Amino acid sequence: MASWMVAPGPASKELGEQLAKRLSLPMVEVHSTVFPDGECKIRITGDVRGKRVIVVQSTYPPTDTHLLQALMLSHRVSQDGGEVYALIPYLAYARQDKEFLQGEIVSLAVVSRLLRAVGVKRLVTVDIHSVEGLGHFSFPAYSVSAIPALAEYVKQHYSLHQPIVVSPDFGASARAEGFAKLLSSEHIVLRKTRDRVTGEVRVEEERLEVEDRDVVMVDDIISTGGSVEKAAKLLKKHGAGRIIVACTHLVMVRGAMERISKAGVEEVIGTNTIPHPSAKVDITPLIAEHFTSIMD
Ligand code: R5P
Repeated sequence: MASWMVAPGPASKELGEQLAKRLSLPMVEVHSTVFPDGECKIRITGDVRGKRVIVVQSTYPPTDTHLLQALMLSHRVSQDGGEVYALIPYLAYARQDKEFLQGEIVSLAVVSRLLRAVGVKRLVTVDIHSVEGLGHFSFPAYSVSAIPALAEYVKQHYSLHQPIVVSPDFGASARAEGFAKLLSSEHIVLRKTRDRVTGEVRVEEERLEVEDRDVVMVDDIISTGGSVEKAAKLLKKHGAGRIIVACTHLVMVRGAMERISKAGVEEVIGTNTIPHPSAKVDITPLIAEHFTSIMD
């Protein structure tokens, strides 16, 4: 049987350690430094030759630093004779998975090439923005879903009145549908449009039957909070009761939480793909299950 190790990158030290503990695997020690000018340096200690190494590094902000650290770490492991299994729980640039405006770079395709160039053999991520994005990878790439775990958390911790699951846009509708099934409730999809130049978001719906109903809004990413804010305001305008948001990746930039709370959201529940005080759901069991299924 091939032997495995875990290399927790600087952005996901805790998650990597939890995973190693859960799978009873030894760890590669990873030392990192960021210099005053922003350049980073990685040093590893441990013998990885002939090992399968799960490199754990989420790419939340500072996005490019975390991405480069993932690349450097993978490069070194593969140079030293290890086989790299990259676990990137939050995969940055996955939203730019096509050319929305002419001349735009498909960033996800670039990330895929970079990962391949440093020797990554397999990518595992959590709730990639769209499954079509996996098509940009020329090596095995998997997205594990945290939606069942988020739904289970909501089920266990909230007693909701006539709950309805809401997707703030069409892109999140499959996730919301799955979530609603697990909650045995209905689900609806709002109409969100984003100005591709300014990034400005609009959420509309003429008729919304949410009066006195508690809402669980489901999304993959909260970045500035603009999408959730607009959707929550609209739901409140139509008489919604409590609003809980369940979201996999809490990127949370530019005062997102404050914006969301002001719009009437009672609580945000996320996962630990990104460290955050609202990351209530631990993805370690899901990830461990994935790796267990491929360990021979
Ligand atoms: C977009 O389609 C995503 O699913 C999220 O809704 C979006 O990225 C969230 O970004 P923000 O919080 O800045 O509105």
